[in-house]
Amino acid sequence: EKGTYPHYMLKEIDEQPGVIRKIIAAYSTEEGTLDIDPYIKQAFQHADRLYVIAAGTSYHAGLIGKEYFEKLSGLPVEVHISSEFGYNMPLLSKKPLFLFITQSGETADSRQVLVKVKALGYPSITLTNVPGSTLSREADYTLLLHAGPEIAVASTKAYTAQLAVLAITAYAVSCDAHKLDLKTELAIAANAIQTMTDAKEDLKKLAHTFLTDKRNAFFIGRGLDYYVSLEGALKLKEISYIQAEGFAGGELKHGTIALIEEGTPVIALATQSSVSPNLRGNVKEVTARGAHACILSMEGNNEPDDGLVLPHVHELLTPLASVIPLQLLSYYASLQRGCDVDKPRNLAKSVTVE
Ligand code: M6R
Repeated sequence: EKGTYPHYMLKEIDEQPGVIRKIIAAYSTEEGTLDIDPYIKQAFQHADRLYVIAAGTSYHAGLIGKEYFEKLSGLPVEVHISSEFGYNMPLLSKKPLFLFITQSGETADSRQVLVKVKALGYPSITLTNVPGSTLSREADYTLLLHAGPEIAVASTKAYTAQLAVLAITAYAVSCDAHKLDLKTELAIAANAIQTMTDAKEDLKKLAHTFLTDKRNAFFIGRGLDYYVSLEGALKLKEISYIQAEGFAGGELKHGTIALIEEGTPVIALATQSSVSPNLRGNVKEVTARGAHACILSMEGNNEPDDGLVLPHVHELLTPLASVIPLQLLSYYASLQRGCDVDKPRNLAKSVTVE
């Protein structure tokens, strides 16, 4: 039930700090650290490469998951869109492990890949929000999201839950002697999410001044911020019908900058300290051509806080917090344009046809 909330999407956005805390509790051990099922851990340890298969928002979470596995556990990862992988399978490594990320566990595009890799005898894991779903039943192992039912078509809390469980899994299979206190860092991220969900009035105003009557909008970022910009663009287009594109800041000058004109909205994510000066350079390039830019930066990076500012979180976990203002921006843009927030046109919650 959505209770006093006008829409499921807003309720689900607000549930995110609680979901992250629930995940921390669900994956906590008696010793007070974070861990996963030992059989699943073994499957990771036997693999020479992880193939992540997913669609839509779950694919965007997979791109960030790749960074987690490669940085924390040294396991090489490829991330593939399910609808492409099944029909155009790349050369596989000798000991592949397949990880299906699917909120619903029912996405037909992902399932057809699972059927094919099972027939080839490869091990598989489903990361899902729905125990007993088709992909959960058919894979060898299941990792659960614990996000509670997600009703709005636009995925919000499942995405942040996917990121948290991917971080925990990468951490659990890490060969390194856990230099990172992931449990504390995730708790800090949950608080940062809370701060951002409390910034509704600011995002409502921003949607109004920034996106009213706009035909298109751009999201730019570098590194992890690039992946979040893809998710921000998907969210905006699916519920507000504004044509939105997310891309790597450095790619601007290779084509997209031609689309920038007077008043074009550009949302620039600059939470990654190593690349944010370059990203700010990209912002100058677009504003010089008339774009209206809004910068999302992070406290503690010693940069001007000239837009939206996230509380400081561990650099790997910034996507959990930086996506929140993008979700709210889409929500208010959809509302202000009179769209059906929870049930956007032409879309279904789970896509059960290939
Ligand atoms: O249930 P799944 O995670 O497999 O769904 C995948 C996509 O259909 C889904 O993420 C879709 O892109 C969302 N509507 C995005 O908000």
